[in-house]
Amino acid sequence: MTDLPTELPTGLTTTDLPTAAAQPSVAPLASVAGEVLDVAAIRRDFPILDKEIGGQRLVYLDSASSSQRPQAVMEAMSAFAETDYANIHRGVYALAERATGRYEAARGAVARFIGAPSADEVVFTKNATEGLNLVAQSWGRTHLGPGDAVVLTQMEHHSNIVPWFQLQAEKGFEIRWIPVTPDGHLDLSELDRLLDGAKMVALTAMSNVLGTLTPVREIADAAHAAGALVTVDACQFVPHVPADVVAMGADFAAFSGHKMVGPTGIGVLWGRSELLDAMPPFLGGGGMILTVDQGGFTPDAFPAKFEAGTPPIIEAIGLHAAVDYLDALGMDAVRAHEVSLTAYAFRALTERMGDRLTIHGPPEPAQRGGVLSLAVDEVHPHDLAQVMDEHAVCVRPGHHCAKPLMKVLGCGATARASLYVYNDTDDVDALADALAHAADFFAS
Ligand code: ALA
Repeated sequence: MTDLPTELPTGLTTTDLPTAAAQPSVAPLASVAGEVLDVAAIRRDFPILDKEIGGQRLVYLDSASSSQRPQAVMEAMSAFAETDYANIHRGVYALAERATGRYEAARGAVARFIGAPSADEVVFTKNATEGLNLVAQSWGRTHLGPGDAVVLTQMEHHSNIVPWFQLQAEKGFEIRWIPVTPDGHLDLSELDRLLDGAKMVALTAMSNVLGTLTPVREIADAAHAAGALVTVDACQFVPHVPADVVAMGADFAAFSGHKMVGPTGIGVLWGRSELLDAMPPFLGGGGMILTVDQGGFTPDAFPAKFEAGTPPIIEAIGLHAAVDYLDALGMDAVRAHEVSLTAYAFRALTERMGDRLTIHGPPEPAQRGGVLSLAVDEVHPHDLAQVMDEHAVCVRPGHHCAKPLMKVLGCGATARASLYVYNDTDDVDALADALAHAADFFAS
C-alpha cells in the first residue's frame, strides 16, 4: 500500500482551507494532520471486503450510495434479536422494557454524535428521504403558501427537491435555486436576493455528486437574518465529517444509517425542539397518539408523534453500534483519512489518465469529500462502470438522483467512485488501472 500524502496537494496552501466561519463543522486540516486510520485493521472488521468477485479483490468504491457494515454492527443486531427483542413503548413486561431502553439509548447515542442538545430532538425515520418529506409535509404544509419562497441549491439530491415540488403543487409557493459555479461551489453572489421573502432554505452539506462541502453556517446565518429556516441534507456529511447540528446553524437535518456503516431501514431527522413541538404529525397510527376517541385524536409529544407504527427497532440497535464504531475511530481521523486519500486519488487518477479525465467538483481535497464523479472523453459512464466491474471495482454510474445538477454540468451521467474509512491507496490504484483499461478499451 502506498503511503498517503501528509502534506497538502500541490498548489494548495493553508489559506485555501475553509475558514471557521464559513465551514465551522469541518476541522481545519492542520488540527487533524497526523491522525490516521489503521485501514488494514478496519478492513478486517468488514467481512465483505475479504470476499473476492470473479477471483479478484473486491474494490468497493460506492459508499456514497451505501456503505458496508462492520461485524460489530451485524453482531449487535443479531445479539439484540437473540436476547432482548420485543416491541417498544407498548409492553409492560421486563423484556419489552429492556428493548425500549436499548432503543432509547440508540436515540441518545445519535444525539451525542451530532451534537443535538436533546435526545428527544432525534426522530427515527425509514431513511433520510422520509425525514426530508417529514419536514416538507409537516412544517411546510403548515407554514408555506402563495407569496412564500423555498430556496434550494442546484446540487440537491432529488430527495431534497421532489418533496418541495410536491408541496408546491398544492400550496403555490415559489422555488428558487442557488446556482453552482463551474468549479463546483455554490454561487452566493445573489444570496440576499434569493432569500428575500424566503421561509425555508433546504440544502445539502456535502454534494453526493461533486463532493462539495457547502458553507452551511454562512448560508444559515443569512437565512435566519432573512427570517427563513434551514433544512440540511446531511446524508453525505454526517458519515464523513465531525458534525454539530447546532454549530452548523441548522433547524432540521436528515441523514441515513446505511451510509454510515449502519443498517438500511433507518434514518434520522433532527429538529430544534420548539419547531418539532409546534409541528403536526406526518404519519398517523399507533405509537404517536396521546389519546384517541370517536371525535378525534391528540398527538403525543415529540419524538413519539413522528414515529407512527412499530419503528425500526433492530435497525436502531445497529445504528447505535455504527455510531460507536465511528466514535471509536474518531471522526477527526475519519475526515483526515478522506482528505488524504482524496488528494492521493486526484494525483493518481490525473497522472494515469491525463487530459482524457474530468473529475467534477472542487479540486481542493480540504473543501470536499471523497466523492469522485468521473468523466472520460467519448466514453459513456455506464460503459466505464461496466468495464471497471470486470476488475471488481464497484462504482456507480448514472445521474445520482441529481438531474438538475447533471443539466448544469452538461452531462447526463457520471461514473462515481466514493471513498470511506475502509478504502486505501490500493483501492485507488485499482480504480486508476480499471479506469485506464476501460478508457483504452473504448478508444481502440
Ligand atoms: N443517495 C445515494 C447516492 O447518492 C443513493 O448514491
